[in-house]
Parts: sequence; C-alpha cells; structure tokens
Amino acid sequence: MICFIFVCAYSLYRKVKEAVKKQLNHLWHTTNIYFHSPLHEYAEKLASRLPGELKVLYLTNSGSEANDLAMFMARICTNNYDIISLRSGYHGSSPYTLGATSISAYKPGVANGSGCHTTMCPDVFRGIWGGSHCRDSPVQTTRTCSCSPDSCEAKDKYIDQLKDTLDTSAAKRIAAFIAEPIMGVGGVIQFPKGFLKDAYQMVRERGGLCIADEVQTGFGRTGSHFWGFQTHDVMPDIVTLAKGIGNGFPMAAVVTTEGK
Ligand SMILES: Cc1ncc(COP(=O)(O)O)c(C=O)c1O
Repeated sequence: MICFIFVCAYSLYRKVKEAVKKQLNHLWHTTNIYFHSPLHEYAEKLASRLPGELKVLYLTNSGSEANDLAMFMARICTNNYDIISLRSGYHGSSPYTLGATSISAYKPGVANGSGCHTTMCPDVFRGIWGGSHCRDSPVQTTRTCSCSPDSCEAKDKYIDQLKDTLDTSAAKRIAAFIAEPIMGVGGVIQFPKGFLKDAYQMVRERGGLCIADEVQTGFGRTGSHFWGFQTHDVMPDIVTLAKGIGNGFPMAAVVTTEGK
C-alpha cells in the first residue's frame, strides 16, 4: 500500500514538475490584465471543482492576501463594516486579516483590527462545553453522547456566545463572518455538529456574508470531502484558498458568486 502511494505521489510530482518547466520555458510571468490562456484554463478548472454558484475567481499570492480581499469585498458588497471571527483562529497577518486573527502570539502591539470582533471558539475538546463523548465533528457521527440524535447541547451554548457577540460587540448589521471548517493553527479544532450551519444563518440574518477560510482544509485535505465546508453542509458566499493550491508556489485564490 505504502509503495503504491509512493508511486502515485512520484508520478504526480513528475507531471507537475514537467508542467512547471514547460511553462517557465514559455513565459515566466505576466500580469493578469493581459490575456494568458493557461491562467483562464486553470481558473475554469478550479471553478468547476467548487459547488453551486461559487464560480467567480480571483488569484492572489498568499492566504493573507486572499482573506484580505475577501474581507474587503464583503465590506464593499454589504456596505457594512464589522467582521466576526473565532477566537484562536489564524487568518493571516496583513492589515485587515490581523484583526480576524485571534492568537496573541501573532498579534503585535500595533493598531489593528478596526471593526473586527471575535467570538468563543466552539472547541468541545478543550472548551467549557462538550467533553470526551461529544460528537465534535459532522464527520465523526459514530460517536454517541447524551444529546438526542438531532441536537447538540454544546453547539447551542457556543451559538449563544456568537449571539451575545453579535448583540453586544458588533454593529446591528455586519459585513462578514470568517471561519475555517476545521481550525488549523489554533489546534486542529473540529466544531460541534451544526455549529457552522447555525452560525451562517445568524450571520446572514444580520446582513453578513459567510467566508470559509479553506487555506488549510481545501483541496481534499480533510479526506472525506474536497472542501472542508462540505463536511458542515453549508454554502459559503466567499471561499479563500492557499497553501495546497500551489504546493509551495506563491498562489492563492478568492472564490465567490456573481451576485454577491
Ligand atoms: C487558515 C489560514 N488562513 C490564512 C493563512 C495565511 O496564509 P499565508 O501564510 O499564505 O498568508 C494561514 C497561514 O497559515 C492559515 O493557516
């Protein structure tokens, strides 16, 4: 089995290396304002991997830049300013994303985060609600807990925290909510079943867009689904991609819909 995986990985590596060499021999760099067919072919292929109306795509250089643009677009599109993120989340270190990032080690003592608010991370493993029997993930449904099959008490408590943040810290109408489908840098945290679904609904009721930061979870890295948000049965308004998209090359993307 290991041998088979190695052979597959090696042949993929050779394929990608040859494609990169071919492109470098042909044209190394051009701005995206000039028509350059491989760029468009790539964008079309990538868009075809995304569900629903998530078909409008813009390529950037890094995850921070992608999230920055997503936050900027959400503010312009909604005419609202406030952005909510989860505590312990990492979304980048650019001027906008530093506000959404909520890990003190990455937050220098400089002005940052105007209009950004954080809410409690729904961490059923280390958080105050949940526990070792909690069904802490939509993809771990074989576990049993004391909640009835169609409810999750921990989820309800963490959703109450989001409601409290929206009622007290943020403006009545908000621009966006940004969250990873599984929190990466913050400690590989899986949210309770139904958390993102309820959070998206609450955010949309306040006029906000839902941004799925797939910088770590995208491109099949969660195993069962190509995109992490699919494990939560939600449809984001904006999806941001990086890391796995370029395997070390400075590539990232923002994907959204035509109407938003
Ligand atoms: C979830 C998440 N979002 C955004 C970023 C920022 O990406 P980049 O380092 O490419 O700017 C990271 C980086 O670790 C990340 O893990």
